[in-house]
Amino acid sequence: MQLKDKKVLITGGSRGIGKCMIDELVKQGVQDIAVIGRDKENLKALRTTFESVNFILVRGDVGDLNVLRDVTSKIEDEWGSLDILINNAGIVSAGPLEDLSDEDIYDQVSVNLTAVMVLTKYCIPLLRHSQEGAILNVSSGLGLIGMPFYSVYASTKAAIRQFSDAIRRELEPDSISVTCVYPTATNTDMMTTSKATDMDSPEFVAERSIQAMVQKKLHVIFGGEERLNDSKLNFESPEKFDAKIAKSYEERKEASLYHKAM
Ligand SMILES: NC(=O)c1ccc[n+]([C@@H]2O[C@H](COP(=O)([O-])OP(=O)(O)OC[C@H]3O[C@@H](n4cnc5c(N)ncnc54)[C@H](OP(=O)(O)O)[C@@H]3O)[C@@H](O)[C@H]2O)c1
Repeated sequence: MQLKDKKVLITGGSRGIGKCMIDELVKQGVQDIAVIGRDKENLKALRTTFESVNFILVRGDVGDLNVLRDVTSKIEDEWGSLDILINNAGIVSAGPLEDLSDEDIYDQVSVNLTAVMVLTKYCIPLLRHSQEGAILNVSSGLGLIGMPFYSVYASTKAAIRQFSDAIRRELEPDSISVTCVYPTATNTDMMTTSKATDMDSPEFVAERSIQAMVQKKLHVIFGGEERLNDSKLNFESPEKFDAKIAKSYEERKEASLYHKAM
């Protein structure tokens, strides 16, 4: 797949991994990009950072159905079609489940999962007009391994994996490719309140994710050999993985208490 002149919609492109993805897309010749985000100033700043891009900027919450309808009807009116949908916006609220607010549970499901499914639904007719339609979904390493104190976030991200497989098979006659990426800890605003160290850079995650989409890879797992081995152990011998995680229970609990980016 060639990225030059492709029309792209990305959620959460105003900061972090999403903004680095825009940088990567622009380097490879993309000029038409629609972005959804909540913060007006960060959205506006995209126009000065990426002067060559014709942006459709939609300010709003992806958890709001009207925002999703608004962006897709703007794309239909202005472009008539869409080549690439990147479901990137995400939020996290960690900690013991019984201490999470009801709102944080609902919002994580709404933003990380429901919005991805609804926006994809709205975009399918637009993607069908493309010769090379593609969807890039951003899951998480926590979507592969259910870690304690991330029960809600991890569940939303695991569902993104299942959604990616199901919708890829469903869209097979339409030749729309679906790539799902699983970043490990990445140095963005999302991790400011976490205690993670040794993080990937958002530039690295963005570049590898866009490359994977171009190459029509199905799943891309970050975190190297260690993450792959952990995933295998978790799947094949979950009780052995339980014992491994139990050793750092208190440390993990303590680290999760303040990790919130909503
Ligand atoms: N950083 C990590 O360690 C890591 C690891 C694995 C997976 N991921 C995943 O990677 C993706 C990007 O994360 P990031 O680290 O780049 O996060 P980030 O730096 O916090 O950026 C999040 C982006 O999403 C937008 N956003 C958040 N909630 C939104 C909402 N309700 N409606 C519209 N836009 C919203 C934000 O803009 P506004 O705030 O202006 O809306 C921002 O542009 C997420 O799906 C995340 O779960 C991240």
